[in-house]
Amino acid sequence: MTTEIFKSAGGVISGVGSVETVGREARRLGGRKVLVITDRGIKSAGLLETVTAVLRASDLRVRVFDGIEPNPETGVVQACLEAADKAKPEVVIGLGGGSAMDVAKVTAVLLANPGPLTDYFGIDRIPAPGVPVVLIPTTAGTGSEVTNICVLTDPKRRVKVGIVSDHLLARCAILDPTLTMGMPPLLTATTGMDAMSHALESYTGSRGSVFTDTLCLKAIELIAANLRQAFANGENLAARQNLLNASCMAGMAFTNTQNALAHALAMTIGGRYHLPHGLLCAFIMPWVMEYNLLADPDKFVNIARALGENTDGLPRMEAARLAVKGIRGLLGDLGISCRLSDYDVPRHEIPTLAHEAVGTQQRLVSNNPRKVNVDDVVTILEANF
Ligand SMILES: [Fe+2]
Repeated sequence: MTTEIFKSAGGVISGVGSVETVGREARRLGGRKVLVITDRGIKSAGLLETVTAVLRASDLRVRVFDGIEPNPETGVVQACLEAADKAKPEVVIGLGGGSAMDVAKVTAVLLANPGPLTDYFGIDRIPAPGVPVVLIPTTAGTGSEVTNICVLTDPKRRVKVGIVSDHLLARCAILDPTLTMGMPPLLTATTGMDAMSHALESYTGSRGSVFTDTLCLKAIELIAANLRQAFANGENLAARQNLLNASCMAGMAFTNTQNALAHALAMTIGGRYHLPHGLLCAFIMPWVMEYNLLADPDKFVNIARALGENTDGLPRMEAARLAVKGIRGLLGDLGISCRLSDYDVPRHEIPTLAHEAVGTQQRLVSNNPRKVNVDDVVTILEANF
């Protein structure tokens, strides 16, 4: 019997209107001065005002840094840290998608560690806990609110780099689906497929446990049963809530397992071509599922069932292949092409991308259920170009 370790954020508060608890949570964590880290889109959508009003009503002194951009570069962290140094917050609040939450997590840690930031790239390199963090997602995708991972873009090397440390775990995550209602259909689709890819990669990966497997299967089921509806009608609050809960469950799982080959490819292609992370995960996922299927057909049968496919009476391999069919069908309904050539990635770059994915993303590749080398990745990319 092996020992299984499951770690997660300090707590999750979920439900319609749960954002009203943010002031109480910040005070519970000992805060009087709080820094909210977000982006200008969240500000113009009125969500920042919603949160700061609750905080001020709780008698907290509030400062805001709203300079987060998609695929945040290391320089953004520096700018945020300068703002944090002036604000001297006792609690940091991350409000937004994965970018805002990731920068909030790493900024809180840098407030209590000497740095520089580059010293912490990699796994378990942050010496001490940071300032307590509360995270409020406004998309249902990254699961960053409960993960111990921060992903940044290194502009010099044109690669995405990960910082993994339990000191990045938030003390509290607040899941209020009303904050995700304004997401347009394409963002709903790509962030939802990011969450789906976390659940799929964590479930089929080699580091799964009974805890992570259970969360992953439920997340797959919830996303499959709700993503089309939220894409078709963003005001479907029940679908939004199910997707937000599913995204969080998938995040709880993969923070304990890491993702796998689909994320290694998404990180590599995303670092060079600046495509949205969720979109990359979406169109890469079926390629990787097809490749991985032989490694654990039984798990793919379970995925097919969670996706709502009818596997009754089918031979095992036929049932397993319905998992890939189910994901391709979902992507088709969401209008997402699975051909690499549709994303302006030149064919001659395939060998370089394959080398980089296998060579620099070992944290992810090592969790892939099927062994994979550079030639395998070239074959996968060529077959799906
Ligand atoms: Fe992801």
